[in-house]
This record gives sequence, C-alpha cells and structure tokens, in this order.
Amino acid sequence: MNLAVFASGNGSNFSAIVKAIKEGKVRVRSLILVCDNPGAFVLKRAQKAGVRVILASRGDFPSRKDFEAAIIQRLKIYKIDLIVLAGFMRMLSPAFVERYRNRILNIHPSLLPAFKGAHAIKDAFEDKVPFTGVTVHVVDEKMDHGPVILQERLKIKSRDSFVSLEKRIHALEHKLYPRAIELFYNSKVGSGKR
Ligand code: GRF
Repeated sequence: MNLAVFASGNGSNFSAIVKAIKEGKVRVRSLILVCDNPGAFVLKRAQKAGVRVILASRGDFPSRKDFEAAIIQRLKIYKIDLIVLAGFMRMLSPAFVERYRNRILNIHPSLLPAFKGAHAIKDAFEDKVPFTGVTVHVVDEKMDHGPVILQERLKIKSRDSFVSLEKRIHALEHKLYPRAIELFYNSKVGSGKR
C-alpha cells in the first residue's frame, strides 16, 4: 500500500504511524506526508524520519478546488492507495471525498458520535462524562462522521486533569491508528483493499 498521512500541526500520530511501519506492524510500500501548514512541527518529524513531504498552503491557491487539485496531482504521481488524516485541520470537499471514497480515514479523540469538533477532549472533560475514548472512521462528507473502523473506550479517572486526560487519549490514539490502518487496508476483513 502507498500511504499518505495528512497533518497540519504537531504530528504525534504521524510519528506513531512511522514507528509502526518501521516495526512491521503496518505493511506500507511507500509513505508521504501531506501538510497544509508551513510552520507545522510535523514537517520536522518528517524530515527526521526521511519521509517525503508535499507542502500545500491553502493561501497559495486561488480556490479550494485549485488547492485540492494540486494535492490530487501529487497523490496520483505517488499512486496513493490510502489517505489517513492525522490532525488535518481542513475539511475536504465533497468532490475530493468522492474521488477517494472509502480510501480516507480519520482519527478523532472521542467516542463518536459524542463530542465532534476540534475540542473533543476538553468538551468530554468539562462535561464530566465517566468515559471518553478514540475513534478511527472512514471519512465521508460530514465532519467527524462515517463508518467506524475501531473505537476504544477510556475511563476518565477522578484524579485526571485535562492535561493528564489529553496525554492518555493521545497514547491511545498512537496505539489505535496504526492498528486500524493495518486492519482496514491489509487485513482480509478490511474493506479498504482494492
Ligand atoms: C489528534 O488528537 C487527533 O485525534 C485529532 O487531532 C490531533 C492531532 O494530534 N484529529 P497530532 O498532530 O497527531 O499530535
């Protein structure tokens, strides 16, 4: 499988995927990073890991269509089979989703459909729910929506602070995402293989 990780910021999930590939836990032929933010820390991670980067800033293109067309052109060059969103802070257009239907995954730090949006960990913490978790799902046209591949629950402990909860959620993400990618694309039960 030729894999593209899309990320806009820190990139800890990107690093977890790179590590899992190195350890043979995710079978990937080639890996690229697609990033829309020239200041993102994930770019440093990619450089260190020797992963090829496609940097496309939305501001450099007159429209979202042109921005996505430039990305698609590169995805075609690298014959990308699967796209995984890992903190990519931009909604993909319906046309993009249609083009890569069932070949885009996302990770979200809550038990979807609970706590959609950019502040899921904080929202769950402030709501004082007993459990939250992590979801990996197939991307469709709606935000944080689509068939779930893997979901794992995490108990919010009474001694958890927001910071400790965030740390535990991220650790769970790093374990779950590589597993979901392998399951979805490479396993016989996955529907991602084409
Ligand atoms: C993760 O919490 C992910 O679930 C969400 O964005 C965050 C990205 O973190 N979609 P990182 O950039 O991978 O560290």
